[in-house]
Amino acid sequence: MEAKRMRVEGKPPYPSRGNRLQDKVVVITGAAGNFGSVCAQMAAAEGAKLALVDLAKDKLESVAEDVRKTYNVLVKEFVMDVTKEAEIEKTVADVKAAFGCIDCLFNNAGYQGLFAPVDTYSFEDFEKVMKINVTGVFAVLKHVSKVMVEQKRGAIVNTASCAGLGCPTMMTGYATSKAAVLHLTKIAALDLAPSNIRVNSVSPAFIGPDDGFMWLRQVELQAKANPTGAPERYYSNDTKEVATQMLESVPLRRLGRPEEVIQAVLFLLSEESSYITGTDINISGGNVLGGSRG
Ligand SMILES: NC(=O)c1ccc[n+]([C@@H]2O[C@H](COP(=O)([O-])OP(=O)(O)OC[C@H]3O[C@@H](n4cnc5c(N)ncnc54)[C@H](O)[C@@H]3O)[C@@H](O)[C@H]2O)c1
Repeated sequence: MEAKRMRVEGKPPYPSRGNRLQDKVVVITGAAGNFGSVCAQMAAAEGAKLALVDLAKDKLESVAEDVRKTYNVLVKEFVMDVTKEAEIEKTVADVKAAFGCIDCLFNNAGYQGLFAPVDTYSFEDFEKVMKINVTGVFAVLKHVSKVMVEQKRGAIVNTASCAGLGCPTMMTGYATSKAAVLHLTKIAALDLAPSNIRVNSVSPAFIGPDDGFMWLRQVELQAKANPTGAPERYYSNDTKEVATQMLESVPLRRLGRPEEVIQAVLFLLSEESSYITGTDINISGGNVLGGSRG
């Protein structure tokens, strides 16, 4: 199988580091996005068969095509909204029919929400964040784990966030939703352990690239959330200054790379973590420790 992957012309961006996911069927939600697409490539480099799921049809198709061509593994894409239970049920049935089983789930689709203090935070946006990040993550976990319970095996990684571990200002919806994902992960780990299914989460903090969508969006929106530059607010109203303020809260003094997040995800999905369940790995350059380096 290794030899088969090597037949692809040219040098793949992620050369195989091993066969940890050889022939495993891996479902990835949010597969058209930053983490999801990198996970698709890195899992393919380790021999996984991929069911890629996202709402964004065009981007999803292009990620799937790219992975298929580069790594020569079985890849199928499924357009699905994680907030619609009927769509999830259908997709899970379609994945089972196409691949025969589901070994791993990277339950990763998410939405960052708006940035505003709690007294003015939009009710509608709060509901939207909860629907995607909490109800959606729960519903995908529910229906995929049903298949895994029948198989009596499986590994699940939910994408939480350091926003759910600490208390980032102006992010009422997002931070609350990610704290819920951390708790959901632990409860699911307990409920599913009797069926030999492990459930863990990852909590990324500030992840680049420094011209990446999520990093730029949070820096800009934090600055805009303090329009007058009021000094009693936590972040400045200047975008560059906010970026500096955020980086100064990271002991390793740099943004993380999506690959550094996915390395933890692949570890938790693979047999390397066979005795680990109900835990969270924070990928934050030490940001969650709360220390200051001056
Ligand atoms: N990038 C970061 O710095 C960072 C840090 C901490 C946590 N996270 C979390 O990591 C996950 C992935 O983030 P990312 O940086 O790849 O973001 P991204 O915006 O690039 O990707 C998110 C993907 O989720 C999909 N999605 C959104 N709503 C959906 C829905 N209702 N149904 C199906 N798909 C839907 C989007 O289409 C998108 O492709 C998210 O859960 C996010 O909250 C990201």
